[in-house]
Amino acid sequence: MPSTIADIPATINLLRFIATVIGRKHKPRRNQAVPNSKGKPSRQRGPIGQFFKMGNEESTPIDESVPPQTLSSRTLEGLAEYIKAGKASKIVVMTGAGISTSAGIPDFRSPETGLYANLARLNLPYAEAVFDISFFKQNPEPFYTLAHELYPGKYRPTITHSFIRLLHDKGLLLKLFTQNIDCLEREAGVPDDKIVEAHGSFARQSCIECKHPYPEDDIRRHIAAKEIPRCHECKGLVKPEIVFFGEQLPQAFFENRMLPAQSDLCIVLGTSLTVQPFASLPDATRGHTPRVLINKERVGGLGNGTDDVLLLGDCDDGVKKLAEACGWLEDLEKLWAETAGLGKDQAESAAGGAPDGSAKSKDEVLEDEIDKLTKEVDETLTLSKWHEEKVRGEIMPRSADGADAVTSDGQHSRSQPHEDEKSILGHVFVSGPSEEAPPPPPSAEPNNKEKDET
Ligand code: OAD
Repeated sequence: MPSTIADIPATINLLRFIATVIGRKHKPRRNQAVPNSKGKPSRQRGPIGQFFKMGNEESTPIDESVPPQTLSSRTLEGLAEYIKAGKASKIVVMTGAGISTSAGIPDFRSPETGLYANLARLNLPYAEAVFDISFFKQNPEPFYTLAHELYPGKYRPTITHSFIRLLHDKGLLLKLFTQNIDCLEREAGVPDDKIVEAHGSFARQSCIECKHPYPEDDIRRHIAAKEIPRCHECKGLVKPEIVFFGEQLPQAFFENRMLPAQSDLCIVLGTSLTVQPFASLPDATRGHTPRVLINKERVGGLGNGTDDVLLLGDCDDGVKKLAEACGWLEDLEKLWAETAGLGKDQAESAAGGAPDGSAKSKDEVLEDEIDKLTKEVDETLTLSKWHEEKVRGEIMPRSADGADAVTSDGQHSRSQPHEDEKSILGHVFVSGPSEEAPPPPPSAEPNNKEKDET
């Protein structure tokens, strides 16, 4: 069941409720510090999938008077001492969008600069719809608009990405679990076999109907030309193998999800730990394995274990401090310098600078990027809406007073996409040259209905 991130909003609420009720009767909630058999508080950890919770749910930080079990202290210094003593040789790293914001890629849930907050004001049924498989089948333009901006190659890895590479180079990285689709870990030089892309990535693409793989060169060309790619075999929609809401996580996630239990250090970076089953990974470590959270905010119950270290703030600053405390700062900076040629477009636009001629700050670059993204998505949505109304006006049944047909719930009913749509949206996103759009999938529901059901 937790193998898809599909119906998370509805099912999780129900399951959380059930878990809470059961938990009250039979056992303490998982994130609480509770007395263990020796009378000492400890986290309750275990295999993924036993519990359902939102990753960022409230939990009580461990009382300062409780001594750590593994570290000498729950501080940066205590952590560095542990690493320098060679006790961390199987490190698992878990990352999210926060590690790429300083590269100019917005995260999802930051209140001002997050993608969802900015998309929420557009004409989408709901912000997450851009990553919803049912919505994509009806209207792929918003996703491909984002894909045009986010496609790998435009951005330079951050120093946090290089820090993960450094852990690998030092032979300490057991596995990196990332939710990011930007491939910046790879670009920083973390090898393929060390990365579990839990939410997929742009690295592969296939037809959503017949599952036939689609060539990388072709999708790159289509995305660059702002065209929507169609399967060479069946003309179905092609999608990068990014995990959308409604889709299964990759096999690699399930094959590796026991690794946190074998680790001797867990580092969580730049994630709100909101999306399951990823959000449960840090709880799959063993009882007193040290965990460190390097993030702007406290999330996911990190901080309530005996050996949890919180380094709250910017993750680039956090990894630099950790590297310095371990005596690795020079190595880290050298590695990051090697990435200087990557993501040239973005680096140049940052250097292009503010009106006063000064270079733009990382925040300004991020804000520009968000403006650009939302404007472009808005444009595709406006065109879709305009076309929808045009089609409705021409072919859809109207009520006696001439009003648009509405569903019983009062929403405008969205017809199946019309053949004309691809040509009307032609200058924004079009199907590939000489490729016919297939009939809409029989299972796809109108957008408004989906929205109401989720
Ligand atoms: P979120 O946007 O939910 O969380 C990003 C976290 O990083 C937040 O806690 C921010 O406070 C923090 N943050 C942002 N910038 C930071 C910085 N420079 N330094 C330190 N912390 C920073 O992103 P994810 O947790 O990655 O799924 O989101 C998880 C999933 O939700 C994504 O993979 C995506 C989304 O829906 C799919 O698209 C399938």
